[in-house]
Amino acid sequence: MDALLALDQGTSSSRALVFDRSGRLLAAAQRELTQHFPQPGWVEHDAAEIWEGQLACAREAIAKAGVKPAAIGITNQRETVVLWDRRTGQPLHKALVWQDRRTAEFCEDLKRQGLEPRIRALTGLVLDPYFSATKLRWLLDHVDGARARAERGELAFGTVDSWLLWKLTDGQVHATDASNASRTLLFDIHRGDWSDELLGIFGIPRALLPEVRPSAGAFGTAAEFGAPIAGIAGDQQAALFGQAALAPGQAKNTYGTGCFLLMHTGAQARSSAHGLITTRAAQVGAVPQFALEGSVFVGGAVVQWLRDGLGLIRSSAEVQALAESVPDSGGVTLVPAFAGLGAPHWRADARGALVGLTRGSTRGHIARAAVESIAFQSAELLQAMQNDGAALTELRVDGGASANDLLMQFQADLLGLPVLRPKVIETTALGAALLAGIGAGVYGSPEEVGSIWQLDRAFEPRMSRDEAGARLAQWDRAVRQVLAE
Ligand code: G3P
Repeated sequence: MDALLALDQGTSSSRALVFDRSGRLLAAAQRELTQHFPQPGWVEHDAAEIWEGQLACAREAIAKAGVKPAAIGITNQRETVVLWDRRTGQPLHKALVWQDRRTAEFCEDLKRQGLEPRIRALTGLVLDPYFSATKLRWLLDHVDGARARAERGELAFGTVDSWLLWKLTDGQVHATDASNASRTLLFDIHRGDWSDELLGIFGIPRALLPEVRPSAGAFGTAAEFGAPIAGIAGDQQAALFGQAALAPGQAKNTYGTGCFLLMHTGAQARSSAHGLITTRAAQVGAVPQFALEGSVFVGGAVVQWLRDGLGLIRSSAEVQALAESVPDSGGVTLVPAFAGLGAPHWRADARGALVGLTRGSTRGHIARAAVESIAFQSAELLQAMQNDGAALTELRVDGGASANDLLMQFQADLLGLPVLRPKVIETTALGAALLAGIGAGVYGSPEEVGSIWQLDRAFEPRMSRDEAGARLAQWDRAVRQVLAE
């Protein structure tokens, strides 16, 4: 049997999933990942824990499935920066996570120097601490001796995919794929290469960088599993692929730690006039693929906050029942700008707000407002895409929180579009497995994997457009309050 192993290294957890060639899930394993918050606005992960947790999951999933994988795909939280010693394989510092805001001031400096339009033209991105370059620069400036060692070629930088690839191949391969490279602010998405101009702006030695390859193909061999690593893509681009959104105009929204709405634009890079970014989609073969993306930093993570920050629920699964215990949010709105605001506002300094509280507000109202905030933020992204001229007729959804029917119905109501949930909502991992299957020759073409997508449920809009408009206006008022702070 052609089993495919996907390593899905996300912000909240490391997971490994084994699929058969028809996309059926055979086995899965998961480990939560420790989040470190050394200062307000800072978020770090332990790169060694990432590797060890990921390896343990892979072993467990393979043992449960009782098969030997034909190929391995890696998909990952994007932008997060790992810096390690090429000789020992030891990280020099904790990984700086995409949500980390410590470089906000440096980004502002670069903006004041008028560099943003040029950076944007080369990378498709905005100048925000979200992306890797300023974080890597921070590490070079703050870890003793790092810059000199980087210049001597002793160190390696990678997003989490590169780090895992390096470890899986026992230090033999230092590479990444175009979808991950396109999140660093160092990659010219049009030429398809690291840019010397950008390396100069951010002060990054070229010797640190991995080789950039297409997303499907032979990356190296994982001796431990006796299988080739044949697919790599950032988790959102992998999800787009796993949703069989392979043609221009097809879009998906993933409800993970954050929410990421991507629309495929084919071989053409389209820029946004409404706060979205241009990114590389997963690439099979020589022709670059692009997508328009809206990134929301706190999506499903708001449920974790209800659990760990407020103690309002004991497990994430309780949120739907608590939110459904009230008919609506009772006028309460939560803007979870815990890590600043991403698209379409791009305000690294924004902080969260809970507004509209009365003596009658209950835990139920707050839980409902939290769930609704996920849909409101996603609706802002879709609106921006439409303002950029996209004619979307439906939205495919995936990720953990897409299992929440209340949220999906509310999403369809706000958008006024059908929301389509596939049978496999582990689309990120599926996408990585399919890319690996293509890279290893298990499938002949991306079109062949397109037929694997199957609908579970379509949520049709039920709310009147007037009501939806009123709800969106209420959200908009709360966001404006946050932006005015
Ligand atoms: O850009 C960040 C994104 O890749 C993180 O995804 O699934 O960990 O929320 P996730």
